[in-house]
Amino acid sequence: MNPTVKYEITKRLLAANGQPISGQQLADDFGLSRTAIWKHIKELETEGFEIDTVKKKGYVLTSSPDSLQAAKIDQYLTTKRFGRNIHYQVTCPSTQPIAHQLVQAGAPDGSVVICEEQTAGRGRLARAWTSTQGKGIWMSVIIRPEIPPTKAPQFTLVAAVAVTRAIEEVCQVRTEIKWPNDLLINGKKCTGILTELQADIDRVQAIILGIGVNANQHLSDFPQEIQSIATSIQMVTGQPVDRAQLVARILHHLEIYTDLYVKHGFEPLKILWESYSCTLGKRIKAIMIHQTIEGMALGITNEGVLQVKTDDGQIHGIYSADIEI
Ligand code: BTN
Repeated sequence: MNPTVKYEITKRLLAANGQPISGQQLADDFGLSRTAIWKHIKELETEGFEIDTVKKKGYVLTSSPDSLQAAKIDQYLTTKRFGRNIHYQVTCPSTQPIAHQLVQAGAPDGSVVICEEQTAGRGRLARAWTSTQGKGIWMSVIIRPEIPPTKAPQFTLVAAVAVTRAIEEVCQVRTEIKWPNDLLINGKKCTGILTELQADIDRVQAIILGIGVNANQHLSDFPQEIQSIATSIQMVTGQPVDRAQLVARILHHLEIYTDLYVKHGFEPLKILWESYSCTLGKRIKAIMIHQTIEGMALGITNEGVLQVKTDDGQIHGIYSADIEI
């Protein structure tokens, strides 16, 4: 089967909104026989698309599976670059190494690697990230901004704002940002962001932004040891999340905020970030590899560095840490 033809047929069926599409028309448009088109339709049916054949009218899509294949995301995309090049896999160890390879192969800005299930998903500090099949959004976005490598960590904050806004708009639920990379609902983690980098000494080649959103899990989908600290959007709202729509909205905000950041730096995004933060104004413990600092989280700088005031009045800049509130 030709994947491009299959993708285009899927897009047409989705866009037709329940109206029939003529098999002959598809055959003419793709320069294929009607039998070849029929074979594509049969393959789509094996993937969970329900397609009726209406005599003399053509194919009618009556329902589509809850999947994240490119054509499903595409129907909601509003972006110019982000998500215009999607690499979809049903299952993979992790989307991050695939995205790293694609960077080397020259994948354009805004390319996305996305899957239904990761068998070895990873988080910050090489921790495991549970990625249950079909329940969440497991994706890596390749971003190629013209910035020095020192600025790359700020992309975690840019991404946190983009995902927060997208979840708010699509799922009508407010998430809070726990510096630097966790999104929480009611104090429990529903999203993690992993920022990785390929760079020359003075220039970023690409940022590989790994985004994991717990969308439709039930409590029993999480391993026992994280059940008290993890949540999913559906567990909070009681409504299933349309994952394809949420992906498209995340990419929408990510493209806008990336462009804003590259043009004007973090400052214009800082106010938004602060308005969603659950870290600021609180007494926190910042746990780093060689030390722990306890004090009041005052704010973040224009560079995204967390400022913590300890009881002796000293102000410390924290670049990376686990935060306990
Ligand atoms: C964290 O909270 O520590 C970050 C979690 C990041 C998880 C995402 S899921 C998609 C991408 N692939 C991975 O293996 N990890 C990131």
